[in-house]
Amino acid sequence: MHQLLHMFHPALMGVLILVALYVFYTGTQRARMLHLGHKTRFAYGRHVFLGALVVLGMLLGMPGGMYFAWHRTGEIGSTGWHFVNAVWYILPLLVLGGGAGWLMHVRRAKRLLIPVFHGLCMVLLVALALCQASTGVLILRSTPY
Ligand code: HEM
Ligand code: HEM
Repeated sequence: MHQLLHMFHPALMGVLILVALYVFYTGTQRARMLHLGHKTRFAYGRHVFLGALVVLGMLLGMPGGMYFAWHRTGEIGSTGWHFVNAVWYILPLLVLGGGAGWLMHVRRAKRLLIPVFHGLCMVLLVALALCQASTGVLILRSTPY
């Protein structure tokens, strides 16, 4: 039971990372349309819905991971780079990139700068989330639950 509970954070985050890769793909359709003039379809509703799911899910999953780490070791931050990457890089990108996405959604307009800012934040976020998966697997392999 204990082991199962500790798999909750890795499983949830793993699924969110896969969804993020799909949301990123739909975002590139929009970027091709906006910056390269290609005739593509942007699945707007799906992008916003699944994107919000990823952003909110990761925001909630982060304190979730901290809870499990604290439960296991009695401290927060014991996982080294996995902790630093989450708090110093992923968290600000979620807030800034997610905030920009939200702003574009509630105030629809033709724009250039905010989509580029949002896109760059989200590319970085997806890359760092993949790094997070690799350090996460390392923690799992070296931890006797
Ligand atoms: C994993 C999460 C997300 C990723 C990877 C992502 C990625 C992208 C990318 C690459 C673009 C194209 C940017 C450009 O053309 O320069 C884009 C556009 C857009 N995204 Fe996201 N996004 C995510 C989440 C969100 C969220 C949560 C929202 C809103 C709540 C959102 C709203 C938008 C909107 C409205 C556009 C179109 C902007 C425009 O051209 O007017 N995105 N996204
Ligand atoms: C965006 C994705 C992720 C974020 C933001 C994130 C964030 C965190 C944070 C903040 C902690 C607490 C660290 C500490 O206090 O030292 C943690 C712990 C942990 N994370 Fe993640 N994580 C993510 C993805 C993953 C993935 C994909 C896996 C595994 C495949 C994973 C496995 C773990 C493990 C095993 C722990 C330690 C839990 C324990 O000590 O029982 N994480 N995570």
